[in-house]
Amino acid sequence: MKLNIAVLPGDGIGPEITQQSVKVLKAVADRFDHDFYFEEALVGAVAIDFSGSPLPDSTLELCKRSDAVLFGAIGDPKYDNDPSAKVRPEQGLLKLRKELGLFANIRPVKAYDQLVERSPLKVENVIGADMVIFRELTGGIYFGEKSTSEDGKSASDLCTYNVEEIERIAHLAFKAAQIRSKKLTLVDKANVLETSRLWRKTVTELAKQYPDVILDFLFVDNAAMQMVLDPKQFDVILTENMFGDILSDEASVIGGSIGLLESASIGARNALFEPIHGSYPQATGLGIANPIASILSSAMLLEHFDLKEEAAVIRKAVEMSINLNVCTKDINKDNHYSTSKVGDFLESIISETEHPVIN
Ligand code: IPM
Ligand code: MN
Repeated sequence: MKLNIAVLPGDGIGPEITQQSVKVLKAVADRFDHDFYFEEALVGAVAIDFSGSPLPDSTLELCKRSDAVLFGAIGDPKYDNDPSAKVRPEQGLLKLRKELGLFANIRPVKAYDQLVERSPLKVENVIGADMVIFRELTGGIYFGEKSTSEDGKSASDLCTYNVEEIERIAHLAFKAAQIRSKKLTLVDKANVLETSRLWRKTVTELAKQYPDVILDFLFVDNAAMQMVLDPKQFDVILTENMFGDILSDEASVIGGSIGLLESASIGARNALFEPIHGSYPQATGLGIANPIASILSSAMLLEHFDLKEEAAVIRKAVEMSINLNVCTKDINKDNHYSTSKVGDFLESIISETEHPVIN
């Protein structure tokens, strides 16, 4: 298969981890005789420094004409404490999601048996946890009208949703539930928010088309508590943009490291694959960032194009690296490997060559 992949490394640790994904994808292409073409472009703070815009037109155009986007990370502390900054790195990612119509962000979360001890949660609560969060990605409070009063003393972010926006992602979540354990939990705040009441009404109506799926509801505050008390109760979670953002970071403690969590952002025409973690500026250039979240996002990329065997090879190699403790220091405190060594290891497993790291 021929695939044109736009590579947007972004900020902080983005370039280091994305480089490992490209390495791994190249090994897959060689082994399975595919033609993967990679083209890099700037996004985020590095793009602002270079061109003044967090999403230059040339980057957007490249993404639009590519089959898929491999995204690194975005964000730079120099903007975080400057509330008056007009241009911010995050705007690049948000605009990209909107322009590409990436309405569904799919975030699988599972506990690796080998790593349950690393989780701050009780082992017996974590072992076997396996869920997927469907986060709406192009609506809600992220994209509603924003304003600040002239005197700077009040500000507003509007949260809006319409039925169509809710239905299109709900269909995907119901379909995922059908092939998993047939349970879907809608997380909302319907006791307070109008938008949440619209979600409940719309999803309840849609459930009639999926009679084999059991639908239940949870308020987001309770869901946040349940996530750490008893994560095994969850299978498919469907939720709006901001609740999904918060819950998926929280869910990362189940796996023991946010550096393991992959994601896919899907639209009608385009698809983007990115780790759920951020740009981790403190670690930039130190070779300590975990590349697995990005590499597993590449596996999702392959699954998106139905390259199941290829994706399985990546997932198996990752399992192997975890079993053998060929891991970065977030999950291997004592004898850790660098970001690129982990990438080299996975590459060698995939291409079935002698391993350069552990002999
Ligand atoms: C994520 C990130 C982004 C978000 C930021 C960088 C805009 O936290 O992908 O979860 O809030 O969606
Ligand atoms: Mn987030």
